[in-house]
Amino acid sequence: MSELSQDMTEFVRGLPKAELHLHIEGTLEPELVFRLAHKHAVDLPHPTVEALRRAYQFSDLQSFLNVYYAGADVLRDADDFHALTAAYLRKAHEQGIVHVEIFCDPQTHIPRGVGLDAVFGGIHRALLEGETQFGISWRLIPCFLRHLSAADAMHTLQAILPYKHLFAAVGLDSSESGNPPAKFAEVFARALSEGLPAVAHAGEEGAPAYIREALDVLKVRRIDHGVRCDEDVQLLDRLARERMPLTVCPLSNVKLKVFERMADHNLKRLLERGLCVTVNSDDPAYFGGYLLENYLAVQRALGLSRAQILQLARNSIEASFLAQSDKSRWTALIDQHAR
Ligand code: ADE
Ligand code: ZN
Repeated sequence: MSELSQDMTEFVRGLPKAELHLHIEGTLEPELVFRLAHKHAVDLPHPTVEALRRAYQFSDLQSFLNVYYAGADVLRDADDFHALTAAYLRKAHEQGIVHVEIFCDPQTHIPRGVGLDAVFGGIHRALLEGETQFGISWRLIPCFLRHLSAADAMHTLQAILPYKHLFAAVGLDSSESGNPPAKFAEVFARALSEGLPAVAHAGEEGAPAYIREALDVLKVRRIDHGVRCDEDVQLLDRLARERMPLTVCPLSNVKLKVFERMADHNLKRLLERGLCVTVNSDDPAYFGGYLLENYLAVQRALGLSRAQILQLARNSIEASFLAQSDKSRWTALIDQHAR
């Protein structure tokens, strides 16, 4: 590594950062897949860790989701969810992440007979340990799978409500095209009446109209991905005016062919237009990098300045569900890295 890129790596690593778009099931590394498959006597379609990793070639979102849901089958008990989350938090700490907002997909686990005590209990135990060991604060955001029905999402909401003290919000993920946010209007209204605000994936593969729907119908507090907003100038103006956060995931976008090459990514243009853009890793075990690698990939490909990197870190804090006092404290610390 050149001295310059080593310098940049240490600069980004040293910045306090929040990660706001991270599917915990997407941190399942092939090594853990094999360990858990052995533990539960599950047959795997690939003979080795290397062969499994080589199979992570995707043509679009759906081709990834098929692999991702199959991989999650090895997660069976609370210890598995704990191991998954603990491994992610260790990595997060090494990369200078001070706050995490983690998605999980209850509907990936319920039909397999995995109880919610195992899912939320295992994740929560690791989050508490991460707080003690590394000082990483956290929020948990269960998501509804949008390729399933609204009725299924409503049942799921009812099933997870006993755990709502653990949640900062509810989210919406999975196959976007053909599953607009408005399909889940009642579910998100009910969640809000229970004190749970909304976030939603929109404008990853779906049209800008899905971003508008997420804002107007689901009343989201931020948009996950949202990169297709730049096809609609009025929407761009609105997102900038409202400082509506976008949780952008650069390596994911290239792996899933939202952008052909990192050099084509619109993150820098959106940032320069005044949008509250953040950088995140989505499903790092599948997309070739965690948060640090995402920052470095866009920095290199788009030529981001140190001032722009600082702005991305500040935005990650601003866009979080942290209390204002914590936001002010982290922002002051980030500002100390400006020179
Ligand atoms: N679930 C996990 N990763 C996702 C993504 N990038 N888009 C939609 N759903 C997902
Ligand atoms: Zn995502």
